Amino acid sequence: MINIAVLGYGTVGSGVVEVFGSNQEQISRNAGEEIYVKYILDLRDFPGDPYEARVVHDFNVILEDDGVSVVCETMGGVGAAYQFTKQALAAGKSVCTSNKELVARHGTELLALAAEKHCNYMFEASVGGGIPILRTIQDSLSAERIEAVTGILNGTTNYILYKMETEHADYCEVLKQAQELGYAERNPEADVEGHDTCRKTAILAALATGKTVDADRIHTEGITGITLADFEFASRKNRTIKLLASAKVQKDGRLLAMVAPFMLPMGHPLATVGDVFNAVMVTGNMLGDTLFYGRGAGKLPTASAVAADVIDCARNLGRTVMGGWSAEKAEMADTAEMDSRFFVRTGVSAAEDVEKAFWGKYDPAVSEGILFGEEYGFFTPVMKEKDFNEICRKLGDAVSGKIRLM
Ligand code: HSE
Repeated sequence: MINIAVLGYGTVGSGVVEVFGSNQEQISRNAGEEIYVKYILDLRDFPGDPYEARVVHDFNVILEDDGVSVVCETMGGVGAAYQFTKQALAAGKSVCTSNKELVARHGTELLALAAEKHCNYMFEASVGGGIPILRTIQDSLSAERIEAVTGILNGTTNYILYKMETEHADYCEVLKQAQELGYAERNPEADVEGHDTCRKTAILAALATGKTVDADRIHTEGITGITLADFEFASRKNRTIKLLASAKVQKDGRLLAMVAPFMLPMGHPLATVGDVFNAVMVTGNMLGDTLFYGRGAGKLPTASAVAADVIDCARNLGRTVMGGWSAEKAEMADTAEMDSRFFVRTGVSAAEDVEKAFWGKYDPAVSEGILFGEEYGFFTPVMKEKDFNEICRKLGDAVSGKIRLM
């Protein structure tokens, strides 16, 4: 029997306990022996809960129990979660987590510590919820040179955009629903401002390149500026709007990474990814494009990914199988030099001036301009991001919305 401990009995932690309870037979078969949740660490008590007796409040109980070989860190944050993870790995206990913030910030150090102590630091649930994307990149695509990863990596924002598009729903109302469904971060700013997607992009890009990718160096924009008018325009152009993560290895080897809303054609493989679903497109130099799709947030899909990591750790006790990435930093390309094309929204009275600033003339036939109510929207030519930003700076408030085209 393999004993494990779960740190944090919140949404994901209680999901992990539920997965081990419900799928005991399959899990024992796949792990080769029974996996037993010996401890649940939480500050709170849970009177009446079937696992009440296993709740402990002191992490040292877990740390000092040599019988515990795997720890699930489902606490979140980078404070106690970081300290407990380091202590567990230093004691030779493998750690499995859904904590993308911690992996993005300290993954390099924690992976190295796990390798030194012949155990594993696994974090499949940290990206794409229940989609088995990290193990796929590390194992199934290990013969590939990965050229690009593009995806929808945040369930909450995809849910919000989907409801805005399909039900013309109010932004605040949908965000509240996402929180109630257990999709959103404790501080939903991390979702809507793109920070959560940024951290996941850093993890994916690190795994794809084998180098450390600093999340702070990824250009990140959220969805708070997206309006129903943007969706109206997108729909007239047979397009939709998604918050995309993009990481591309350029010909010179530098990594071009960004997180931003994109207006993409309905025929694009990511255009129909709705609701809380995530999808990740991985382009390998031999394989070409592959697409992975599934539930990107929520208690049980995320917990299932944590539990699968526990099984992997249980099968590999005393052996590090999670390679991850090295301490060498990936060289980043500057997004200001990137060629992009944008959708621009402006008021009707400023339409002519604004369009002229980008095209040198006002010609809706060329810019594909459309009027809707008091607003006018058009597409710019392909231009360097720095040139686009400079024109926007000069136009000031005349530009009321801008979204990159895919
Ligand atoms: N808040 C995250 C999301 C949870 O909505 O995708 C899963 O990482």
